[in-house]
Amino acid sequence: MAKFNVTFFVDSKEKGHKISMLTAYDYTTAKLIDQAGVDSILVGDSLGMVMLGYENTLSVTLDDMIHHTKAVVRGTENAFVVLDMPFMTYHTTVEDAIRNAGIAIQESGAQAVKLEGGFHVKDKIKGIIDAQIPVLGHLGLTPQSVNAFGGFKVQGKDEGVAKKIIEEAKLLEELGVFAIVLEAIPEKLAKIISESLTIPTIGIGAGRYTDGQVLVIQDMLGMYPDFTPKFVKKYAELGIQIKEAVIKYNEEINTGVFPEEKHGFKIDDDVLEKLY
Ligand code: KIV
Repeated sequence: MAKFNVTFFVDSKEKGHKISMLTAYDYTTAKLIDQAGVDSILVGDSLGMVMLGYENTLSVTLDDMIHHTKAVVRGTENAFVVLDMPFMTYHTTVEDAIRNAGIAIQESGAQAVKLEGGFHVKDKIKGIIDAQIPVLGHLGLTPQSVNAFGGFKVQGKDEGVAKKIIEEAKLLEELGVFAIVLEAIPEKLAKIISESLTIPTIGIGAGRYTDGQVLVIQDMLGMYPDFTPKFVKKYAELGIQIKEAVIKYNEEINTGVFPEEKHGFKIDDDVLEKLY
């Protein structure tokens, strides 16, 4: 199968194909996701929380993102890879935003970048798109604004914020983003937005009517111990399985059960004699 490119997103919406996206931050996981046939991999700045143990995504740097995205790109043959631009890499000037997005694409090998926000970053999004770098938008609960929102809260439940998100979605489409992530907004608001755009929406905690879905891989595999959002479906309990396996390994080391003879390497007797 050929590697997906940016045209896949609008084509999918036209054909009614629901787009699948998962996050990944390393070579091994990316390879498994790619081989499973997922359409797109997002190297999310959620890596700050699930890989690096920060409280939120604000401490993630462009170097962190490039480092992890390079590993994901090496593990990916078909999926479309998107790099999440971290906090403060596109918030100062348009020039900085274009330069940072350019470095991200050149050094990581990702095919697109994701930026959070609407009105307040419109010039930066336009500049990056004009530089021929595909942009994935992100509206609703945008985690880089966690302090401005006063916590990780569902967005768009009241008329004012709901209307703002609808207008921002239309603005992003006009600016030329190829798709928009809608995070933690009411299902019926996501439906209105999805039906009013020609580009696809990709939901996370945005209900059933978006044009695709994305989840954080650690959440859907049951691996992240700190918190599981209500919108996550756990497709496995790998956290429990990993812990059980490690407990067993620990016990077998302590009791001498592992390693067995079959796990070792042999040496010829004539060589061995010369070692005593
Ligand atoms: O960083 C991330 O993983 C994301 C997704 C949750 C959409 O932005």
